[in-house]
Amino acid sequence: MAAPKTLRRLAPDRLRDDPRLRALALGAGLIPPRTMHSQAEAALLAKLAKDARRVVELGVYEGSSALVLCRALGAGAELHLVDPFIDSTGWALPRGARASATATRLAVRRAARRQGPAVRWHFSRSQDVGRSWTGGPVDLVFIDGDHSPEGCREDWEVWHGHVSPGGAVSFHDARAATAARDRRAWSTSCSGRRTPAGRSPRRSILWWS
Ligand SMILES: C[S@@+](CC[C@H](N)C(=O)[O-])C[C@H]1O[C@@H](n2cnc3c(N)ncnc32)[C@H](O)[C@@H]1O
Repeated sequence: MAAPKTLRRLAPDRLRDDPRLRALALGAGLIPPRTMHSQAEAALLAKLAKDARRVVELGVYEGSSALVLCRALGAGAELHLVDPFIDSTGWALPRGARASATATRLAVRRAARRQGPAVRWHFSRSQDVGRSWTGGPVDLVFIDGDHSPEGCREDWEVWHGHVSPGGAVSFHDARAATAARDRRAWSTSCSGRRTPAGRSPRRSILWWS
């Protein structure tokens, strides 16, 4: 069980932000994954994942959104988590931040243990995983990995064709400071395309800040 929040808050930032200490504490279950989204965003993610059979998350970090997905998905579902745990373009995380694949894996395993989805890990760039994907149609692709304009565009290019009829692609940080203009620009251009669902792409593509 995680230590109480009031106790964790007493730790100075220097300790709280140390990647190695975080990894030890996260892996041991003493702290939860660092939250990277608002409650409203978590609620939307859970809503999109409800009843999905296969979900792919691109960019996992410490697993906060993966835990939301674990709770939303049933035991019969698959959750694919994609992260090389290297921020090669420098757009994915604040400077100095990094997560440990082992610690995140332990945190997700604990969350999925009871009635959770089958979790499949891919420790590679999401663009490479998408290009060689043979895992079948995906009901939800959640894009939150490489935030560079090129990385986002490539994620869209390689993943949107894997989305099942009626499924969704969603982007996080579409309105966040630096990447905002680019993400907005290309998500608008994406909305001119049709998904395999043959539905209005506007209903199939969601993005939020
Ligand atoms: C903003 S964090 C993800 C946050 C996570 N979705 C959450 O809510 O806790 C971005 C993550 O993307 C990962 N990343 C960077 N480049 C990537 C790529 N090309 N493919 C997949 N993940 C990538 C980083 O290692 C980092 O863990």
